[in-house]
Amino acid sequence: MAADDLTVRRWRAPGRINVIGDHTDYQDGFCLPMAIDRECRVTVRSTAGTPTITATSAQEPGTVVVATDGSTDPTTVEPAWGRFVAGAVAAGTARGATLPGGTWTITSSVPAGSGLSSSSALSVALVLAAVGLGGLHLDPVALARLALDAEIRATGVPGGLLDQMTALHAVPGHLLLLDCRTLTVEPVPLPRSLGFVVVHSGRARTLAGSGYAERRAAVEAAAAALGLPALRDATPDQVAHDPRARHVVSENARVLAFADALRTGRTDALGPLMLASHASLRDDYGVSTPELDRAVDRLMAHGALGARLTGAGFGGCVVGLVQRNHADDIVAKVARDLVAAGVTDPLAFAVRPGAAAGVAPD
Ligand code: GLA
Repeated sequence: MAADDLTVRRWRAPGRINVIGDHTDYQDGFCLPMAIDRECRVTVRSTAGTPTITATSAQEPGTVVVATDGSTDPTTVEPAWGRFVAGAVAAGTARGATLPGGTWTITSSVPAGSGLSSSSALSVALVLAAVGLGGLHLDPVALARLALDAEIRATGVPGGLLDQMTALHAVPGHLLLLDCRTLTVEPVPLPRSLGFVVVHSGRARTLAGSGYAERRAAVEAAAAALGLPALRDATPDQVAHDPRARHVVSENARVLAFADALRTGRTDALGPLMLASHASLRDDYGVSTPELDRAVDRLMAHGALGARLTGAGFGGCVVGLVQRNHADDIVAKVARDLVAAGVTDPLAFAVRPGAAAGVAPD
């Protein structure tokens, strides 16, 4: 059978939690994410001579048809999940990929709209497909940039590189210390006795329409007013009067302290740093919600060592640091509390560090 004739190929990309370091990536700062054991997969069946890609999703309704030459404008595609397909095809072809037509089937175990980077898992898997089918060879940083390009084409949201870098650099058993200025990653081992649980606040999160772009513009303006390329370079004194900028500067310091505590085995320091991060995101950056605060509170009440919102905020999930052998018990108790508070179908589960995006096994 010819290589482009109904050949089946598969790619995968994981979701992530951000353990600490939110709203720092777009100011050249530090983040400490971990890819999780939930992922998005794209299965491609290519057909010779077909000028279109027909995409379906196991989780979302509808069928999307996109031109292989990248001429489909992502913003016009309905249903909206298909914009990611068009975005990946447009970004891949703009980079020089020549794509065969065929069918692309998407399936994902990353809950959507939860702050666990379901969108980036999707865009990274799609971009890997576009690049793999198009015969391009890109390193992980270039792939992360291409996936971000695809996502911005799809959503218009000016995200940073945190999510895509995490998916492409993940190391099983490790967190990733990400320097968003140099775009370098240091894997930091997670002690075997520790684990993370994720709890959905009960309020869905969407980045488009939220205050994400507004927050980003505010801290860009703060950096410019200080004459700095980014708040990475600001001192605490320089931003003491500005809560938004103050969050970015204090969060960078917490990320470095957290990584240092992990490296030196001072695990007692971890939980308080996560709680301080949540307080800063709530009080200084203004991206928490009462539901997120409640989920943090419930995790702490049931024995988590620390907890905080994860990702952009404005709804979605919180992450709790736990003794690994307490994870299931804490998840069950928090879920019970959420039901009592009126959340139907609470989403709470333990996560383990996942593997980097790439070709998926059959
Ligand atoms: C979203 C964006 C990331 C990052 C986080 C906040 O997940 O996609 O780039 O800015 O919010 O840390």
